[in-house]
Amino acid sequence: MTLIMGLVFVWFIFVILFSKWIRKFNLYLYGICIVIAAILFTQETNIVNMGYVGLSFFILVMFASTLSQGTIRKKLMGNRAELAVMGSIFSLSHGLKYLIFAFDFTFFWRAPIYFYIGIASVVVMLPLAITSIMIIRKKMKGKDWKKLHKLSYLFYGLVATHLLLINNERFLFYVILFGLYVIYRVLALIQKQPIKPKEKIKIA
Ligand code: HEM
Repeated sequence: MTLIMGLVFVWFIFVILFSKWIRKFNLYLYGICIVIAAILFTQETNIVNMGYVGLSFFILVMFASTLSQGTIRKKLMGNRAELAVMGSIFSLSHGLKYLIFAFDFTFFWRAPIYFYIGIASVVVMLPLAITSIMIIRKKMKGKDWKKLHKLSYLFYGLVATHLLLINNERFLFYVILFGLYVIYRVLALIQKQPIKPKEKIKIA
């Protein structure tokens, strides 16, 4: 938990300090992340292979929208796409590592359920990550992009299930993390409900 939240804090500071640069040089940043992820992929266990780095980026992406209006929210929301793409690069490295491990040790068909949920989350993550890259996003109609990116809720749900079913010493941390996010989304949805004309008259 300390490691995951520590990483979230580092990315947070990184965005606050360099938000404009992150947007401007995003393709170079993705290149650097791919190189780091590829190098660490070849090593034994490390924080990328174990999934922590990928998750830390997504925590920031998830909670950016829960912040109240202000400079911090503006900066985080402005770099959400970059954070999500970087999170996807590191999560893909983690997923592939476990996938290869499962084939090497021939337990692919006998793996625990959270293993398959991990695979499902990557299947949902890939189109979201690809269409978050600005040059590709610009080629899509805004409406189609928005519709596709509703799948990010499914992705968060799958990641939450993946982590909760592992049922390790961080179980409570994951319950609080995703629980807080669900509470926020439900409250945001209730507040967004349009007021019926009759109620409007009453208020007036
Ligand atoms: C092909 C896709 C994936 C596979 C096969 C996979 C598989 C696994 C496995 C086998 C574990 C180890 C559980 C243990 O310690 O016994 C694990 C842990 C983990 N996975 Fe995944 N995963 C995938 C995708 C993802 C994604 C997309 C994320 C996050 C965005 C993620 C985040 C994590 C994290 C953070 C852990 C460590 C949990 C902890 O120790 O508290 N995984 N994964």
